[in-house]
Amino acid sequence: MDSLLVNNQVFQLFISESQILARVAQLAQMLQADYAHSKPVFVAVLNGSFMFASDLLKEINFDCEIQFVKVSSYQGTQSTGKIQEIIGLNQSIANRNVIVLEDIIDTGLTMQQLLISIKNLHPSSVEVCSLLLKPDAIKVPLNIKYVGFEVGNEFLLGYGLDYDGLGRNLRHLFKLRITN
Ligand code: IMP
Ligand code: MG
Repeated sequence: MDSLLVNNQVFQLFISESQILARVAQLAQMLQADYAHSKPVFVAVLNGSFMFASDLLKEINFDCEIQFVKVSSYQGTQSTGKIQEIIGLNQSIANRNVIVLEDIIDTGLTMQQLLISIKNLHPSSVEVCSLLLKPDAIKVPLNIKYVGFEVGNEFLLGYGLDYDGLGRNLRHLFKLRITN
C-alpha cells in the first residue's frame, strides 16, 4: 500500500509501521533511563496520540500511570488556530513527574496551552514526548525533550493522525501528495 485516497486527496506512504515501532522502542529506552524509579504519570493527548501512546506504553517496563486529555485545534488540513478547552486533567498529577504524549507538534500552540494547564496543577516536572515534530512550523518557544521524527511542513495522515476524521486507524504514516 504505497498510496491511498482519503476524502479525494492522494496520500503516499511516508513512515512505515516497522520504522515507527523501532523508533518508539528507542523512545521507551530513553524514558526508562530518565524515569524508571519515579513512577511518572503519562498524559496522552487524544485523539491523535492513541496509537503512539498504546505502542509506547507497551514498551515501558517500570511503574507508571496514564491519563488521557482531550484538546483539538484542527479542521481539515489547515490549523484553525482555535484552541479548544482541555478536558480530563485532574489534581492527581500534583508532585508527580509528568510526560505528555502527543502525536505531532505543528505550530506548538496546542502544546503551549496544554503545558500552562498542566503546570497549574503543580507537577514536580513536565516533559513532552511527541512522535512527530514540524520544526519549521513551530510558532512558540517550546522545549520538546523526546521527539520520534522531525518532519517537514507536509500534512500527515495515519497512525492516529486524521484528515477530517478519517485515517486514524492506518498502521503506517502517510503524507499528502502535492500536485501542481
Ligand atoms: P498545533 O497546535 O498547530 O501544534 O497542532 C497540534 C495538533 O494539530 C496535533 O495534535 C494534531 O492533532 C493536529 N495536526 C498537526 N499537524 C497535523 C498533520 O500533519 N496531520 C494531522 N493532524 C495534524
Ligand atoms: Mg493531537
